[in-house]
Amino acid sequence: MDLIRTVDGMQDHADVARSKGQTLALVPTLGALHEGHLALVRRALKEADHVTVSVFVNPTQFGPDEDYDEYPRDLEGDRDKLEALGVDVLFAPSVAEMYPYADDEALAGPLSWVEVEHLDQHLCGAYREGHFRGVTTVVTKLFHACKPDIGVFGKKDAQQYVILKHLVEDLLLDIDIVGVPTVREADGLAQSSRNAYLSETEREQATVLYDAVSAAEEAIQGGEQDAQAVVRAMDNILVTAPDGEVEYAEVVDAHTLQPVEHLAPGQDVLAAVAVYFGETRLIDNAFVEVPSA
Ligand code: PAJ
Repeated sequence: MDLIRTVDGMQDHADVARSKGQTLALVPTLGALHEGHLALVRRALKEADHVTVSVFVNPTQFGPDEDYDEYPRDLEGDRDKLEALGVDVLFAPSVAEMYPYADDEALAGPLSWVEVEHLDQHLCGAYREGHFRGVTTVVTKLFHACKPDIGVFGKKDAQQYVILKHLVEDLLLDIDIVGVPTVREADGLAQSSRNAYLSETEREQATVLYDAVSAAEEAIQGGEQDAQAVVRAMDNILVTAPDGEVEYAEVVDAHTLQPVEHLAPGQDVLAAVAVYFGETRLIDNAFVEVPSA
């Protein structure tokens, strides 16, 4: 596996692979890789001849009160895991490499942003101002650096996944976005780098997120068409975690990410929750197709 640190080096490498007729997949990550990330990598290895995994803790997607400085970093550990799976390239650029003006106080950060409008108004976007603009900007830059045919993302970050699908469509990028189902612990908790921050009691209670979105899924599949009733089903479970503070529990259209009141037969919807345990913010979701009859 090659470790590449510069955008030029990455672009040259991608050009060589492409000139050999290989198909390229990119798996963007923030690093501190766990089984959820590795499921994406395994999928990428199945879908393409050549797989690049990027590890870049992207400053522009963290808010001023978020955990950018404390975010776990373990490049050596990541490198071992990726090498063992047979990944071709680990792309790990510095902040200066990705954001040439980042240290220039007069310019204060990137000058060019990529923004997908409207889809960040609800769910996480409503509470993390500027987060998705940071994600869409860095993912666009990673696409230009790594030149993939396929980008592989987790459905665990449902809003991110939907926004990125719109991004490639709107900007006519010749890249397929592949979505991978959420990888969970045995008790249902979605794998996340942030699970490590939970105390033992918080960890026990954190199963309410999966239980809540599963209850939503069950209600919708059982014929419930009133979105408020589905939200109540989620809330009833979330309140059973005394240390959890619910940020949101919502049902939105899975393509427009706008709230729905009445679920239409055949409609794809997304039931999603975000809950704080202390400082730790956890999310989970279920994509559900409303039954036709
Ligand atoms: P990060 O949180 O490191 O996640 C990288 C990828 O792994 C994302 O596509 C995410 O949805 C996926 N992922 C995380 N946990 C998962 C799980 N339990 N099951 C399945 N997939 C999971 O998401 C980001 O980084 C960043 O926003 C990024 C896209 C890299 C842009 O900076």
